Amino acid sequence: MTPGKPLQSPETPGKHFETPPVSRILSGIKPTGTPHLGNYLGFLKPALGLSQTHEALYFVADFHALTTVRDPQVLRHHTLDLAAVFYALGLDFDRHMFFRQSDVPEVTELAWILSCITPLGLLERAHAYKDKKARGEEVNHGLFAYPVLMAADILIYDSTHVPVGKDQKQHLEITRDLANRFNHLYGDTLVVPQDHIEDEVATIPGLDGRKMSKSYNNCIGLFSTEKELRKSVMKIVTDSTPVEEPKNPDTCNVFALYRHFSTKQDQAAWADRYRHGGMGYGEIKQAAFEAVNREIAPFRERYFSIREDTPRLNGILEQGGAKARQVAVKVLNRVKQKVGLH
Ligand code: TYM
Repeated sequence: MTPGKPLQSPETPGKHFETPPVSRILSGIKPTGTPHLGNYLGFLKPALGLSQTHEALYFVADFHALTTVRDPQVLRHHTLDLAAVFYALGLDFDRHMFFRQSDVPEVTELAWILSCITPLGLLERAHAYKDKKARGEEVNHGLFAYPVLMAADILIYDSTHVPVGKDQKQHLEITRDLANRFNHLYGDTLVVPQDHIEDEVATIPGLDGRKMSKSYNNCIGLFSTEKELRKSVMKIVTDSTPVEEPKNPDTCNVFALYRHFSTKQDQAAWADRYRHGGMGYGEIKQAAFEAVNREIAPFRERYFSIREDTPRLNGILEQGGAKARQVAVKVLNRVKQKVGLH
């Protein structure tokens, strides 16, 4: 993975940090289904790029998935899927920490402590909760409290930078708000993290042009078979401009995907073909499929080579969990000391 946008310099940590982290990258992904190209471009690829130059902690957010997933087998299955994804993409498990959120139960303790300083209004304004409520879908307390647990995820590791897609920006704002609030009440304790969002890939559109998302059923799976990948790309919605007429690459859903998997030169050549007319959408769909497949195929092979090796995948998660827990315990103790629980 090539490094993308450079990190902003971390905020100056408070004087109480004996060894302030220079930069510690952290992020998570929910095991709620097979990851899609939005997850890949918006999060996985930048996250893997950053891990080449910085210390990284990446985790499977299984506590968060419980807000919607009701089938234990499905939860286990998708957790292992994600372990296989990180393996396939080449995360160095010895150098970094990769773990299951629930293997560090301290995070729920910190979430409770943070809950006690979280104004309700802050959570009532959270998009994920508001949108679901507006659609008349089930809203449970876990979903309402989701941003507090997410803040705990980030703050319990003294994280400085959090690579995410744009849909997580508000959660990062809430995290910063809670960290500042805690530091204001109890003195410098928590590192105030920054989001790390790469503009180009902040929101990857799905088949219908809306944000690619499992809830819109408009996803292209990251490691579906080659045949399925082709089928999905062919389903991308286009307008009905006839072949001979000029078309606009900038408003085309196929081009929006193609550009992330091709060189500037190839993009310019296709953009010319759009504008001249005489190009059918079938042609660019084929080119987009080939471009995506070229990049993904080696990873897909590695993914399927390990996916059925459950003991190995569980071993990777356990090893990472043990390492992450050591960091979390230290930060939680610092917090407990401050609030009077120790
Ligand atoms: P999740 O599982 O929904 O998504 C994982 C990551 O993929 C990004 N993403 C996208 N980026 C660009 N375009 C898209 N269409 C697209 N769809 C998804 C998301 O922005 C995310 O970065 N709340 C988090 C999981 C989480 C977490 C955390 C993340 C729990 N605790 C602490 C960071 C730090 C989530 O539901 O991501």
